[in-house]
Amino acid sequence: MQKGGKGATYSSERFAGTLNAPHRAFLWSVGLDPSDIGKPLAGVVVAWSESGPCNFHTLNLIGYVKQGLRETGCVGLAMPTIVVNDNISMGTDGMRYSLVSREVIADSVEAQIVAHAYDGFVGIGGCDKTQPGLMIAMARLNRPSIYMYGGSAEPGFIGDKKVTIEDVHEYVGAHLRGKATEQELLQVEMVAHPTYGACAGLFTANTMALLSEALGLALLGSSSPTATSSRRAIYAYETGKALGRLFENGIKPRDILVYEAFRNAATVLMASGGSTNGILHLLALAYEAGVKFTLDDFDEISRRTPYIMSMRPAGEYVMMDLDRVGGAPLLLKKLLDAGLIDGDVLTVSGKSLGQGLKEYRLPNVPHDHIVRDVHNPIKKTGGIKILRGTLAPEGAVVKTAATGVTRFEGTARVFDDEDPAFEAVRRGEVKEGEVLVIRYVGPKGAPGMPEMLRVTAALSGAGLGESVAMVTDGRFSGATRGIMVGHTSPEAAAGGPIAFLRDGDRILIDTEAGRLDVLVPLEELEKRKASIKIKPPKATSGLLAKYASLVTSASMGAVTLPRL
Ligand code: FES
Repeated sequence: MQKGGKGATYSSERFAGTLNAPHRAFLWSVGLDPSDIGKPLAGVVVAWSESGPCNFHTLNLIGYVKQGLRETGCVGLAMPTIVVNDNISMGTDGMRYSLVSREVIADSVEAQIVAHAYDGFVGIGGCDKTQPGLMIAMARLNRPSIYMYGGSAEPGFIGDKKVTIEDVHEYVGAHLRGKATEQELLQVEMVAHPTYGACAGLFTANTMALLSEALGLALLGSSSPTATSSRRAIYAYETGKALGRLFENGIKPRDILVYEAFRNAATVLMASGGSTNGILHLLALAYEAGVKFTLDDFDEISRRTPYIMSMRPAGEYVMMDLDRVGGAPLLLKKLLDAGLIDGDVLTVSGKSLGQGLKEYRLPNVPHDHIVRDVHNPIKKTGGIKILRGTLAPEGAVVKTAATGVTRFEGTARVFDDEDPAFEAVRRGEVKEGEVLVIRYVGPKGAPGMPEMLRVTAALSGAGLGESVAMVTDGRFSGATRGIMVGHTSPEAAAGGPIAFLRDGDRILIDTEAGRLDVLVPLEELEKRKASIKIKPPKATSGLLAKYASLVTSASMGAVTLPRL
């Protein structure tokens, strides 16, 4: 039995030598043999679940990763982590577990990798939170590791009209207002998500997949092939081999996750018009990597980055279309050539991002309809703006890519949860010129900062997407469209100004100026502060209550901090 091969840092301690015979005995039971001791031991962590299509297929990729590991002199053993499916939990109490699951996933990876002395791991994700959860675990453990996306679904079609899950949500809104029949809704429902894989548009899952390449944590080109593409198997195999090389050269996640890598990822987020959840997850990942990266960085990067990619929900195309024209490397190359990202950062390939892009062969096909030139952008500045003001002293976010409106002043209609707001939209009580305020749905208050897609889609479906705004301390789905301001911080449950709003207050949203203000005299707000009692978190036991006691503000990425 060899002892302590290169990269076998943790496994050799646990499995080599006479005294480790009891530990080793269990390895023989799972198919290893004495020649495996001393080789790097890699976990293949798979977020898998049959609860929805997003991670339905990920187990199938394990064998290819293991084969790649074997061929580079390593041993791979697989293990699962959980999935909370965003679409199935959307608009229900289940959605409160979505962001929480990011922490559960990171914690579960830590527990399994450390407890069993793995030297590093490949993380395979799919649905929204599985991806940042796995990446956070990489940063936390800082053992050689690579992320791989399981791929998104193919879009559905009605005639030649492309449809995705976002259409089903919006058809519900249209049906509620008598603008679509039950039959039309059923037709969309039946075809919207025709294969396994994550949501097809540039919602949160595909956003995080693009960011995994921009950060350098995933192989170039690996995010855009659909879940059904045979290239998934090739990328899984190559990912296994690449981890083998990382063991050899000793590159660890924190060598990759440096400040410039976060700037690159934030630039891709802004240029692509990706999900606002990308901000929350990059903040949390930077925290875990020990990198100071704040909302101010996003603000500055948003101002200097043109929005150039036309993907749903803001544009027309889906990930499968982006894949045909070159995937993330096409976007990265355009940004690199324009001097908007840093090509010197290291990636999991062992090469710099710039070198990797130089060697990457892009297809020679027209692509301007999906990814434009930086000098001919859809908008001159980034797809997400950071807002600050009397209603959000610590910041709020708005996806400017998903609306044509840059300034909105309206009258507040205040709700302390999502359900009553949805009911008001359903009953047709919400009128043009109003700002729907949904509060006590932040990280601590909800707890778990649910997404408000059910309400925003109902507004869009009712034709109110550009005439009614929303301000919330909750989150939005990547599929949300309209003048929707989220992550308002501090949240209501932490005593933020949003807690002191009343029906009839005037609210100003100015995305050009980066402002979110309540047009009420400060003395009046102070008076209300003294008389209004802040409501406690809505959970008193179980996981959500534990989470509420540890979670920080959305402006910090809603990370959980131990109370020692
Ligand atoms: Fe899983 Fe959209 S619900 S990726």
